[in-house]
Amino acid sequence: MCGIVGYVGPAMPSNRPLEVAMEGLARMEYRGYDSAGVALVAPMGLVSAKKAGKLANLRGVLEASPLPEATVAIGHTRWATHGGPTDANAHPHLSEDGKLAVIHNGIIENFAPLRAELAAAGVTFTSETDTEVVAHLLAREYNAARDLTQAMLTVTRRLEGAYTLLAIHADAPGSVVGARRNSPLVIGLGDGENFLGSDVAAFISHTKDALEMGQDQVVTITADDVRVVDADGNPAEGRRFTVDWDADAAVKGGYATFMDKEIHDQPKAVADTLLGRTDTAGNLVLDELRIDETILRSVDKIIVVACGTAAYAGHVAKYAIEHWCRIPVEVELAHEFRYRDPVVSEKTLVVAISQSGETMDTIMAVRHAREQGAKVLAIVNTHGSTIPRESDAVLYTHAGPEVAVASTKAFLAQITACYLLGLYLAQLRGNKYPDEVAGYLEELAALPAKIQHILDNEEEVRAVARAMKDATSVLFLGRHVGYPVALEGALKLKELAYIHAEGFAAGELKHGPIALIEDGQPVFFIVPTPRRPLLHSKVVSNIQEVRARGAKTLVIAEEGDEAVTPYADVIFRVPRTPTLMMPLVTVVPLQIFAAELAGAKGYDVDQPRNLAKSVTVE
Ligand code: F6R
Repeated sequence: MCGIVGYVGPAMPSNRPLEVAMEGLARMEYRGYDSAGVALVAPMGLVSAKKAGKLANLRGVLEASPLPEATVAIGHTRWATHGGPTDANAHPHLSEDGKLAVIHNGIIENFAPLRAELAAAGVTFTSETDTEVVAHLLAREYNAARDLTQAMLTVTRRLEGAYTLLAIHADAPGSVVGARRNSPLVIGLGDGENFLGSDVAAFISHTKDALEMGQDQVVTITADDVRVVDADGNPAEGRRFTVDWDADAAVKGGYATFMDKEIHDQPKAVADTLLGRTDTAGNLVLDELRIDETILRSVDKIIVVACGTAAYAGHVAKYAIEHWCRIPVEVELAHEFRYRDPVVSEKTLVVAISQSGETMDTIMAVRHAREQGAKVLAIVNTHGSTIPRESDAVLYTHAGPEVAVASTKAFLAQITACYLLGLYLAQLRGNKYPDEVAGYLEELAALPAKIQHILDNEEEVRAVARAMKDATSVLFLGRHVGYPVALEGALKLKELAYIHAEGFAAGELKHGPIALIEDGQPVFFIVPTPRRPLLHSKVVSNIQEVRARGAKTLVIAEEGDEAVTPYADVIFRVPRTPTLMMPLVTVVPLQIFAAELAGAKGYDVDQPRNLAKSVTVE
């Protein structure tokens, strides 16, 4: 939610601050695209521009009325919470004297009393946002103390909720001050210039040296200095890290959309997540798992907490981990977890799965789990994010930056990481012999080529999707690991193509959903391998059942599975794959289908309406 960038450069004013801010916003537009804005400190004072709609609208404003050369800049791309996506509600928000500008990600929960207090003191508000109260409060404190860092410390003590804030002031032309609580802010360390960003994408083309900020800290950057303090103003240390991907990884690389590119990145995302996980003796080693082996051996229950697509990855993991390790696995939507008094003990391992590492619902679940004494292992894609920092251990997926709002390659990498975790636990606890673990790892290593094979034949899926662009409802059915794949196929289609789509466990069909079947109703089936005959035959029966009632059946089946042929209107073939690993191949045609169909309807595949890439509010 909301992308934030801040920059301080040399004392000589130039166009660089605005260029850095605009480039950072372009890279972070996936975080929110309801409106965008920038503010600069120029020799003449503070200047700003903002516009509702996508970043292109702001670019239009800047072309029509260029801003002057400056020394510092802040930029913001918004996902609306308080107040609709209008020009007035776009950030930055300014103080009444126009000398101070602030941008914000998150929600100030006590904004109403603060607003009332300011209004009673005679302040006139120009927007409906919670952010504007911060601009006015900061201006008052700055005018009293003439110190922006001090003003930020004083004001943040009065704020409740989650926020990242950046502020600049016309009288402080060489600094940007930032603060964070339960919302991301990363520092980029440059040479004679420094950066702030919601994530490293904000400054990746300028520096890979970064510093994580802790909870409730305030940072002041100047061209040559970065100063972090805690909420009491005492010096604080950040954790330095180097970003392990290139700016090139976050460009479309010749594809029409980021989603297209990311779907094609999937063989590499899986391969990279598997890379370097065995020692010279061939044993699976997960160096990042800093949880004591004795504790991992004593785990008697695993609870996966995650949201959306990441939760479906957890759902797939349940089948594999239970089968390999004989540990019960529950999968819980993170936002439901802490409200239902879950049974958690020090023998529970909570696995938090998140691409962004910033999903607030998942962060809150992590905190709750740790408060209850559980160990938390994070499976996360984004270095420097909050969830790994707040967990006991982390297993990073190596999918590279995922820019399209709809998750694709992160999903495959999450499933892969879950398999690694399952196999590691099985090895550690003696559920599997080393040669068995090695066998599974070999099967996993073969997956990237299989995914590539599907991508090489994607046109078939795309043609079917284009022909179905007027469909109004699509159902997805699967059993066993095919069930979460069905859920994911439906989610992709609804979020990208705005079509009603539902995923069901195929066995559930006869308990209700079959009433939805009428002539021509498209139904996808995710068919397990025929090498699991019992499971396979049940799904084939389900295909027959809906076909007999007039459905159009679109079947994803293994190469050579001829049992499905008589009942399929359309068949998408996937390479022969062990049952538990089938989701890594069967979901790919569904991703392609959703993206192509949405494109055929003229929708923005990378930035679907109402969504944002990382959901940093509860
Ligand atoms: C759907 C999608 C979302 C995310 C969910 C969790 O395509 O991307 O459902 O999976 O918002 O996000 P992360 O993984 O960042 O915690």
